[in-house]
Amino acid sequence: MVLIIGGDALAASRAYASLEADAAVVVLVRGGSPALCDELQWRARQGQVSVLDWDALSSDSRVDNACALEGTSAPGIETELDLERDITSLDGYLSRTPVSLVCVTGTLSLSHSSRIRSLAPHIARICRAHRIPVNVADMPALCDFYFASTHRFVDPTTGAKSSMQLGVTANGEGCRLASRIRREAVAALPKEVGGAVIRIGQLRRLAREHEREAEGCGVIEETNGSDLDIEGANGDAEDTSVNTPNQPVPIRRADDSESIAEAVRRRMRWVAQVSEYWSISQLSVLTEPEMRAVLSGSIGLPSVGQHNHGERSPSQSLPPLQTSQHGLQPILSSVPSKKQGRILLVGSGPGHPSLLTLATHSALTKHADLILSDKLVPSAVLELIPRHVELRIARKFPGNADGAQTEMMEAAVEAARRGLTVVRLKQGDPIVYGRAGEEVLYFRSHGFEPLVVPGVSSALAAPTFAGIPVTQRGVAETFIVCTGVGRQGKEVRLPGYERPRTLLILMGVARLSEVVGALLGYSPLDTASISKDDSKREGRRDGSPYPPNLPIAIIERGSMPDQRVLVSTLENVCTALESLGAQRPPGMIVVGWAVLALHGHGDVRVLEEGEGSDEERVKQWLGGRRWNVTEGISEGWSVL
Ligand SMILES: *[C@@H]1O[C@H](CO)[C@@H](O)[C@H](O)[C@H]1NC(C)=O
Ligand SMILES: *[C@@H]1O[C@H](CO)[C@@H](O)[C@H](O)[C@H]1NC(C)=O
Repeated sequence: MVLIIGGDALAASRAYASLEADAAVVVLVRGGSPALCDELQWRARQGQVSVLDWDALSSDSRVDNACALEGTSAPGIETELDLERDITSLDGYLSRTPVSLVCVTGTLSLSHSSRIRSLAPHIARICRAHRIPVNVADMPALCDFYFASTHRFVDPTTGAKSSMQLGVTANGEGCRLASRIRREAVAALPKEVGGAVIRIGQLRRLAREHEREAEGCGVIEETNGSDLDIEGANGDAEDTSVNTPNQPVPIRRADDSESIAEAVRRRMRWVAQVSEYWSISQLSVLTEPEMRAVLSGSIGLPSVGQHNHGERSPSQSLPPLQTSQHGLQPILSSVPSKKQGRILLVGSGPGHPSLLTLATHSALTKHADLILSDKLVPSAVLELIPRHVELRIARKFPGNADGAQTEMMEAAVEAARRGLTVVRLKQGDPIVYGRAGEEVLYFRSHGFEPLVVPGVSSALAAPTFAGIPVTQRGVAETFIVCTGVGRQGKEVRLPGYERPRTLLILMGVARLSEVVGALLGYSPLDTASISKDDSKREGRRDGSPYPPNLPIAIIERGSMPDQRVLVSTLENVCTALESLGAQRPPGMIVVGWAVLALHGHGDVRVLEEGEGSDEERVKQWLGGRRWNVTEGISEGWSVL
C-alpha cells in the first residue's frame, strides 16, 4: 500500500504511478475528498484510491487533549500543537496500517504551504522509525527513494495492460529530462514488448505446470526443492542473465525416462532461449498451442547454434528426437506462417514520383504484397512497383465510382485476411477528396485498422507547379478547397467571392461551364439565357458573385511532364478550354487574384486600395489576349 500525503496535481501523478504498479493507494489530505484536485476526486469516486482526512485520523488516534484544545486556535493559524497532533496521529496510523511507501507532496519550494514543509521532516522521521521508505517532493535530503518516470506497456493485440514497465529516474535531478529520456526510450522499443512479456509469462507458467502436478502427487523422488532450483542461481535459471542460455544440456534420452525435474529444467531452459533469441514481435503473437509445441520441443528455435562457434551443436550429429532437445531448427520451417494482414491507405502525391513521401515509397517497394490503385494514379508512380507485387487498378468509370470503391475495399479485406500487406494507393492525399475515411471505417468494421499515409495533395502542389501561390501577402490571405462534383454526381454548392481568397476546385474541369456559371451567376457561353437561368445558377453559390474578369487557371496533370496550364478570366475560360480540344485528366481549377500574382514581375498589391484598376491588371497580365496556355513543367524537375 502506498500512502500519499497531499491532494495536489503532483499527488495525483504519484497516485497514478502507484496504481500503474498495481499498488493500493491511500491519500491523506486535510479536509478529505473536497480538498483533492479534480483527478484525485475522480479516482476516489471510481474507487481507485481511498481518501483519509487528517482530522479524522487524529480523532481516531489517542490524542484527546489535542482534540479538546482544537477550539482554541483561530482558523487558519497553525500552532505547534497542531503539528504535534498531526505527527502523533500519523505515527499511530503507520503502526496500525501496512504501508510500504510514503510520498509527500505540496512541498515544492515555490508553493505557499510552508506548513507541509515544516511537517515534512517530522513525517520523514516517523516513516524511518517505521522502516517505511519516504519521498518528499523537492526536498531531496528527506528522500529515501525517487520516483521514476514510468511507462506501462500494453499488449497491442488485446489492449491489456502488460506487466512490462519501464522506469527512468535521475534520482531527484532533472525530472523533466528523465521523462523525456523515458519517452524516447519507449519510442525506440518495438511496441510489441508489452505483448511479448505477457506471452513469456504464460510460457513460464506452462513450463512449470507439470512441476506442480508432480509435487502434488509426490512423484519427485530423487530430487528435492533445491535440486529443482530453476529460479535460483544455477545455470538453468531462466532469470539469470549472467548465464548463457546456450550451455549444453544433457541429451534427452530416447526412452522418455527423463525425470520431472529434468523436464522442468529443460523446459525452463527453452523459455530462456526463446526470451533471448526470438524476435519481440514473434514473441508477442505466440499462441498457446505454439507455446506447448515449444515446450515439448516440437517447435525449434531460430538457429542460434549456427552462430555459437564455441560449442558443437548436438543437432548436427543426432537423430531427430535428440535434436529437438536443443531445438535448433528454424521456427519458420515448422510453424505455418501466420503473418498478420495489414492495410495501408497511401497517398501517391500529385503525380511526379519525386513527390512521393519516403513512407509511401517504402510501402510500395518494400512492404506491399498487393496494390489496389485508383485509376488516376500516374504511371510514373506505378512503375516504381516491383514486378513480383500484384497490382490492380480500379475500374472506376464515370457513373460507376461507388461500385468500384466497394470492389476495392472488399478485395483489400479479402487479401488482408490471407495475411497479405495490402496497399490502397490513391492519388494526391488519401484524405483530401480521396474517400479514405469511408475505407478507414469499412476496414475497421472488418477487423483491420488501416494505416493512413498522407500524400502531397495536388490541391497545393499543382498550383505551385503552375507558378500560382495559393496564399500570397498582398493578394490572397486564405484559400478554400472544394470539389466541383457533389455527392453521387449531384450539383455542388460553391462559396461566394471574396477578394482576398483563392478558390481551389478539385474534379471540376469536366463540368467547367457549370462551375463557372455558378460562380458568375450566368452561363458565360450562352448570354441569351442570363435572365432565364439566373435563379438556378445563383442557387449553387453561397455569397457574392465573382467578377467576370477574375483570373482563373486550369491545371491539368499537375507536376507531370505533360502538365498543361490554361490561364484566362472567368468570362473567357470556357471558350478557351473548348479551343484546346481533348482534356487531360486529372485537372483542377484555381480561381482568384493569386493566379496572376507571381507572373512576370509580379503583382502583389491586389489588396491595396487605389492600386490600379482590375481591368488594367488583367490586361497587363495576359498581354491583351483572352487566354494563354503553358505546357510542361520546369526543367529543374528533371534532376529531382
Ligand atoms: C535436498 O537436496 C540437497 C542438495 O541436493 C541435499 O543436501 C538434501 O539432503 C536434500 N534433502 C532431502 C530432504 O532430500
Ligand atoms: C503564356 O504562355 C507562355 C508560353 O507558354 C509563357 O511564357 C507565359 O508566361 C504565359 N503567360 C501567362 C500570362 O501565363
